[in-house]
Amino acid sequence: MKVLVVGGGGREHAVVWKLAQSERVSRMWCAPGNAGIAGEKLASNGSSVECVPIGAKDLADMLAFAKAEKPDLTVVVPDDPLALGMVDLFEENGLPAWGPNQRAARFEASKVFSQEFMERHGIPTARSGMFSDAAEAKAFARSLQGRCAVKADGLALGKGVLLTENIADAEVAIDEIMTEKAFGDAGAEIVIQELLSGMEVSLHALVDGRTGCLFPTSQDHKRALDGDAGLNTGGMGTYSPAPFLSDDELETVGRQVLDPWLKGCEEEGIDFKGILYPGVMLTADGPKVLEFNARFGDPETQVYLPRLENDLLELLLASREGRLGEVTMRWKPEVAVCVVMASGGYPQSYEKGKEIDGIAEADALPDTKVFHAGTKFSDGRVVTNGGRVLGVTAWRGDLASARDAAYAAVAKIRFEGAHVRSDIAAKGLG
Ligand code: AMP
Ligand code: GLY
Repeated sequence: MKVLVVGGGGREHAVVWKLAQSERVSRMWCAPGNAGIAGEKLASNGSSVECVPIGAKDLADMLAFAKAEKPDLTVVVPDDPLALGMVDLFEENGLPAWGPNQRAARFEASKVFSQEFMERHGIPTARSGMFSDAAEAKAFARSLQGRCAVKADGLALGKGVLLTENIADAEVAIDEIMTEKAFGDAGAEIVIQELLSGMEVSLHALVDGRTGCLFPTSQDHKRALDGDAGLNTGGMGTYSPAPFLSDDELETVGRQVLDPWLKGCEEEGIDFKGILYPGVMLTADGPKVLEFNARFGDPETQVYLPRLENDLLELLLASREGRLGEVTMRWKPEVAVCVVMASGGYPQSYEKGKEIDGIAEADALPDTKVFHAGTKFSDGRVVTNGGRVLGVTAWRGDLASARDAAYAAVAKIRFEGAHVRSDIAAKGLG
């Protein structure tokens, strides 16, 4: 099969790397891809993955390319093209595409939609209110004593959420989002949730419209600095499984969230085929969903896919074709840890174009994979080209060994200004 993967970050590198292992894939493109993706080869015939310089949000050019090359499957990975309706557009043009359609992608594209859906269908979530009027929002924030998560409705590049602990800060946050439009038009409507405390875990489920197959747990590290200090980022590192839930507890949590969610989708005629990624807080009152994403997590994917034993292409086809009831996902027992190497200054301003050394040495270590996120080729050398530059994953028999192996691989890689959190997986090691 000929496969086109849309996207060009670390998560997409992991998807390409895993799909390239499928004997059924005979040709693969990735748009726009990155320097690591361009280095992947197909297991079936040794040919290279071809990077195509089309942006993930450029629907018209992507469609023109796909009409010319006729991929048998297009795998749309990032949130933006999903929210823009790339899957609908491809399917309308007779091009099979995997990922949620535009309506289904609203679970991520609109926090108001998601919150109302959760409340309609009895999915455990934080106490919340939805507002398009700042004065009403402030009155609700006062009723929570200012202990709030204030969220812009629309996509805001993983940002768009302000956490506050007193009334004055909550009012400032509401003004920033609604009046000053700190996150642009995403802030015309907001969701305010009560501020919850507990351990946060990422869940993923592969969904085919009727059936959801739950992945093991993972945990991300969203803040830029050690000890969960500093600004929110796209994610500075992950590990899987996270030891806060036993398999039985995971099954229970999954069913408390996934079963009512699937039933709600069926009742409302939402045909969701893709990855549902709930962010969940394990509180003293039980698990509560903070948000839904409608795609693979980044860098969760960089720890999930090295553990996945199934052929990913088979799973994506089963998801698109409504056959997940026939499928059992199998996971390696090894623990995987991914440490992100970021550009100095990320998530604020940073420089690009720094030469990167040592990737090949790190990649040569056993059960280790360097996933490229923000990289490109410049004069034949790999250079930095984004905030998150690399995700270095290692998998071993236990969490401490996997953590040590990931950091040993990181130690082989050098670029000017590289920033790494030194405490990835520390919570899991207790
Ligand atoms: P979200 O994009 O909705 O997942 O929010 C980003 C981050 O803000 C989450 O990963 C949590 O760490 C934090 N967060 C979101 N909602 C809440 C909440 N209701 N209580 C506490 N923390 C939250
Ligand atoms: N790991 C955070 C995200 O993918 O949104």
